[in-house]
Amino acid sequence: MKDLAHYMRPGTLQLGALPPLSLYVHLPWCLRKCPYCDFNSHEAQAGEVPEQAYLDALVADLEQALPLVWGRSVHSVFIGGGTPSLFSPQGIDRLLADIRARVRLEPDCEITLEANPGTFEKDRFRAFRSAGVTRLSVGVQSFNDAHLQAVGRVHDRAQAIAACEEAASAFDTFNIDLMYALPGQTLAQLEADVTQAMAMMPPHLSIYHLTLEPNTYFAKFPPALPPEDTAYAMLDRITEMTAAAGLARYEVSAYARSDHRCWHNLNYWQFGDYLGIGAGAHGKLSFAHRVVRQVRYRDPRLYMERAMAGDAIAQEEEVARSDLPFEFMLNALRLRDGFALRDFTERTGLPLSAIEPALREAQAKGLIERSLERVRPTELGFDFLSDLQALFLADAGAT
Ligand SMILES: C[S@@+](CC[C@H](N)C(=O)[O-])C[C@H]1O[C@@H](n2cnc3c(N)ncnc32)[C@H](O)[C@@H]1O
Ligand code: SF4
Repeated sequence: MKDLAHYMRPGTLQLGALPPLSLYVHLPWCLRKCPYCDFNSHEAQAGEVPEQAYLDALVADLEQALPLVWGRSVHSVFIGGGTPSLFSPQGIDRLLADIRARVRLEPDCEITLEANPGTFEKDRFRAFRSAGVTRLSVGVQSFNDAHLQAVGRVHDRAQAIAACEEAASAFDTFNIDLMYALPGQTLAQLEADVTQAMAMMPPHLSIYHLTLEPNTYFAKFPPALPPEDTAYAMLDRITEMTAAAGLARYEVSAYARSDHRCWHNLNYWQFGDYLGIGAGAHGKLSFAHRVVRQVRYRDPRLYMERAMAGDAIAQEEEVARSDLPFEFMLNALRLRDGFALRDFTERTGLPLSAIEPALREAQAKGLIERSLERVRPTELGFDFLSDLQALFLADAGAT
């Protein structure tokens, strides 16, 4: 890792203030690899994860990164995967104690853990809560046994319901992850999934269109998926049904009751900073004159070796000045409420003139609405989000 002076040296950007800081921790093991998944997740041998060795590596990784976030407090922690609920509550307790001993967590710090149904949730979820987790995200994907099988999940409908019930009883705020447009799924079956999800009364729902990602089993052997117009109709139904249950769509894939939005994800979308530790974790950190992205070694064994040897960073690059407008918009325009113009200048270090031509074009096309302080995507902008975001690409003449 480079020394601090390297990050602090002069540059062409002028950041007014550093954004809020979050911490992402990646735990890379799962019981079985799902055929659609391109996340950095690896099958645990005989269901066992090298818990203590990995926790040691995370501490070493965090300690090496500390100089880059010196004096800053952490507003949210997200323990993601993989399947973090494969780790024991004692392991998560140790992880959070190790983090607390090294960085200052804000008093109301949100601490999310991703949990999969079928990972022995009885009493375990409550133990995660005792360890300091404040928010559980349950990877349900579907409540339909045939669809769960079609997407290679290890759990069934009964286990999904049991996990949601446990989450609801142990946590004030929890999230259900669903996917839609699953192989062979009809509109009525999607409605049944959303109805079942709403019956669990989650304060937060994330629902993603199943995509065929390169380098996955499904990319090689694609299943038959519902046609595009069915997928659009499904999304409309999801938005209607969640609204009727009191959950508002505040981001492309996220629905929540008003005080249950995910702070951690909001910070990503608002171009906040995040330190990412763990195998393959991504981070984004700001300094007075630059924005830096980092990626840790992806293979868990190699990551553990490198972290213990003092350098877990596989790649690091400064975001080019010309790429900043697009990177900012890629995130900020996913939000229903858009962004404050002041946040753009503060977080990219660029003047508003850098995006003024693109903003004018977007407004002329009816894709955004703006006031003196804010820019918000319109309904049309939300429907044609990638076209809207593309207006801010460097070669689209935005800078
Ligand atoms: C990284 S996964 C981790 C959560 C947990 N391991 C699980 O699978 O339940 C986060 C979420 O991304 C979504 N996801 C993963 N791969 C996807 C894909 N190819 N298409 C759409 N959503 C996907 C799933 O809803 C999943 O719950
Ligand atoms: S359980 Fe989650 S992280 Fe693991 S392979 Fe399946 S989708 Fe990916």
